[in-house]
Amino acid sequence: MRGKILKALYQSKDHISGEIISKKLGISRVSVWKHIQSLKRDGYTIDTSPKGYLLISSPDLLLPDEFTGLKQKIYYFKETSSTMEVARKLAKKGEEAIVIAEAQTHGKGRLGRKWHSGKGGIYFTIILRPKISPAYAQVVNLMAAVSVAKAIKLVFDLRAELKWPNDVLIKGKKVCGILAEMDAEVDAVNFINLGIGINANNPISLYEKDVTSLKEELGRDVSRKELLAFVLNEIERQKLLLGRKEIINEWKDLSSTLNKNVRIIMPNETVKGKAIDIDIDGALILKRKDGSLRRIIAGDCIHLR
Ligand code: BTN
Repeated sequence: MRGKILKALYQSKDHISGEIISKKLGISRVSVWKHIQSLKRDGYTIDTSPKGYLLISSPDLLLPDEFTGLKQKIYYFKETSSTMEVARKLAKKGEEAIVIAEAQTHGKGRLGRKWHSGKGGIYFTIILRPKISPAYAQVVNLMAAVSVAKAIKLVFDLRAELKWPNDVLIKGKKVCGILAEMDAEVDAVNFINLGIGINANNPISLYEKDVTSLKEELGRDVSRKELLAFVLNEIERQKLLLGRKEIINEWKDLSSTLNKNVRIIMPNETVKGKAIDIDIDGALILKRKDGSLRRIIAGDCIHLR
């Protein structure tokens, strides 16, 4: 209900009376007033006069009320250990939800790395239950990367490129990381928790090199909620395309890995070669020095100069 009231405030250029809101939403005026107070407590500035309510400004928070039109329940945290941990518990209970945090104390990166998760970034995990075989799971990473790159282009007009399997780069520097955790049987996926971290307004200067943020690229703070709304909607659209060729084609269009010489680090082996293609399951096809082809399902990819 709070989300619907917020939507009514966003849509109104002038004061809107409590009576109109209460009639529109079928609740009492007292209830409207209570929701307005709760929005104010969360940092929304709402002018209240005899004419009604007028939204003056909203906080830069990723509150669930900001994301309308999604079917999933949203769990929101000012701070949590990791949205992956929260999502795993929810997924085990059968939920299909989105977990969003303003900050994480134990942000997880790929391959056991840490993910810096200070305030100002965007951290969330989506629980997906796609009807795919585990062999196709890499494509879920690709589809998430495509969704983030498209949203960055749409909202900020910045060209983002994709590094296989699932990094989003701007001018060669990483702006977003994606971590997919799968729970599967041999032939069926139970759930895939898709964790996405985007460097938005969080300071990045202390981190490793080759990392950037949207703030760094644009020289100003960005609207995190606007970007997240686009990313979430794009993922909803893209997930319907799982199993079709479009995701792979879109990924190829945005790829910075294809046609580059790369080194792929896998648990037991490291291979070098030229990245020449991505197959229908999202695997990378490498052409090695001796001309032979090698199909890589997963690994850490380093672009060579
Ligand atoms: C990578 O190493 O590139 C993947 C980083 C994934 C980070 C996101 S932030 C939201 C979610 N929660 C986590 O703890 N990790 C993922």
